Amino acid sequence: MTKPHPQIDRTTTTTAAIGKKHQSRTISPFSCYSPQLSLLILATCVTLFILCQIQILHVPPISSPSPSPLRSFISHQWQTVTNCTQDNLNSMAERLRHSVTFLPLKDLRYTDKAVQGHTWFMSSMYDSHEEGEVQYQQFPSKSSDDRLLCLKGRDTHDGSWNYYALAWPETLPVNATLMKGLTFVSYNHYNYDNIWHGLSAVVPFVAWHRKNGCESPTRWILYHWGELRLRMGSWLTTLMEATFNGEPVIEGFDGGDEDGVYCFEKAVVMRHNEGGMSREKRMEAYDLMRCKARMHCNMSPERRDANNIGMTLFMRTGPRSFKNESIVTGIFRKECGKVDGCKLMVAYSNNLTFCEQVKLMSMTDILVSPHGAQLTNMFLMDRNSSVMEFFPKGWLKLAGVGQYVYHWIASWSGMRHQGAWRDPDGEKCSFPKYDRRCMSIYKSGRIGYNETYFAEWARNVLNEVKAMKELEKASQSASSYECACG
Ligand SMILES: *[C@@H]1O[C@H](CO)[C@@H](O)[C@H](O)[C@H]1NC(C)=O
Ligand SMILES: *[C@@H]1O[C@H](CO)[C@@H](O)[C@H](O)[C@H]1NC(C)=O
Ligand SMILES: *[C@@H]1O[C@H](CO)[C@@H](O)[C@H](O)[C@H]1NC(C)=O
Ligand SMILES: *[C@@H]1O[C@H](CO)[C@@H](O)[C@H](O)[C@H]1NC(C)=O
Ligand SMILES: *[C@@H]1O[C@H](CO)[C@@H](O)[C@H](O)[C@H]1NC(C)=O
Ligand SMILES: *[C@@H]1O[C@H](CO)[C@@H](O)[C@H](O)[C@H]1NC(C)=O
Repeated sequence: MTKPHPQIDRTTTTTAAIGKKHQSRTISPFSCYSPQLSLLILATCVTLFILCQIQILHVPPISSPSPSPLRSFISHQWQTVTNCTQDNLNSMAERLRHSVTFLPLKDLRYTDKAVQGHTWFMSSMYDSHEEGEVQYQQFPSKSSDDRLLCLKGRDTHDGSWNYYALAWPETLPVNATLMKGLTFVSYNHYNYDNIWHGLSAVVPFVAWHRKNGCESPTRWILYHWGELRLRMGSWLTTLMEATFNGEPVIEGFDGGDEDGVYCFEKAVVMRHNEGGMSREKRMEAYDLMRCKARMHCNMSPERRDANNIGMTLFMRTGPRSFKNESIVTGIFRKECGKVDGCKLMVAYSNNLTFCEQVKLMSMTDILVSPHGAQLTNMFLMDRNSSVMEFFPKGWLKLAGVGQYVYHWIASWSGMRHQGAWRDPDGEKCSFPKYDRRCMSIYKSGRIGYNETYFAEWARNVLNEVKAMKELEKASQSASSYECACG
């Protein structure tokens, strides 16, 4: 047995002194909460280090049958310290696990400003927003302190019965299921079956995707007022399939129990549609969808040739259809016939497949169509194409700002909205002139015609498009074109 080095004596003395000092405060020398714990660990480390040095120097390399009492003492204390720290960490982790706080997805305190500011959806969270870019929340991120988003509940009738919380990946709530990959969490104030409202909800995800290395989602979670939605309309589903290279997986949480907790490895939350995005950024998102949709339908993403002008009458059936389609078609056919290279097409929105719509729009320079969801297809035309819209009687005064959505989408997707014709004639309403109750009658009204007006309007638009095409031909701008996220 080797005689301890004087230095060791000094160290052990120090350790003992610390111990003594503790005892005088009636705290166990190796208490987990000792303020001098770190000093003790340091001292122990130094001791162990020196001890090892000595062992190497003085003890033959054969394993010694009986370890020195000092070494075993220190080893025991070291174990206690380690066990103690580990226990402590475990108990802290357990506390964190249990302290994850779930809040209702729909916050009824903000009912009166449901879509403003931080909205009533996940109301405790704020979006990150750079000038002109999409507004979103991402988890984990610096602003979430690296915490993941967790969701609980799958109520489809009341969003205040579904919940959200943030949790660190090491201390997820008890029994939580971790869902790998990228999750898109969408808030839509309207519905996912309507192609206009559905599109508005997905555009910001397309912008995010473009901005973040073209990363595609593993799954989508769709909410409307915090209520879970299990599907998108089929047009939107196909558009998303084309854009993100795979059929969208809509999460329904139907694997586990009603109150199962799901946490997401990476989640992106959108609740402001295109709000905050500059025109340039919106156009980029629409460009990407157009390009991907064309590729999905086995078409070239390139601009069509500059020699022809496609004029398409995109018809509706039922409400807001033309009362006399053959007369309307005749007027446009006549004007189109006066322009070299103009080709008139007539199609019905109700019986075209997605790819038929994409193909039709790719051949269209001038879209002639009544106000209605089918106009959402306009962004599938090449940029700078024209839209002519038609309204039945009564809409201007009574239909609210919603009637301008196709003006907006034209602007956002880089199209030219060439104005709208509003039928001065239509159904009679027995209420006073601008009574809101008349809207229920006008809503489903059908659209007449004014030959003089339609013909002149068509001529003007055709001339503008023709001039633009000549310019295009001269500048040879029809260069080859690739999708942003090829
Ligand atoms: C430390 O933990 C190990 C394993 O859990 C156990 O075998 C050992 O006795 C503990 N040591 C002390 C000093 O509590
Ligand atoms: C976690 O799951 C187990 C087994 O299903 C169950 O017994 C336990 O009560 C659950 N704990 C919580 C906090 O939900
Ligand atoms: C459309 O107008 C033409 C010419 O006035 C008429 O012959 C035809 O019956 C009308 N069609 C419908 C469906 O009203
Ligand atoms: C599409 O629908 C329109 C109107 O309902 C109808 O006239 C037309 O024949 C249909 N086309 C096809 C290919 O089914
Ligand atoms: C659209 O028109 C604008 C202005 O007329 C022009 O600057 C732009 O290059 C055109 N864009 C495309 C894609 O043709
Ligand atoms: C049709 O349009 C022309 C040109 O805008 C206008 O002068 C005329 O009054 C309109 N006719 C009717 C019946 O509204």
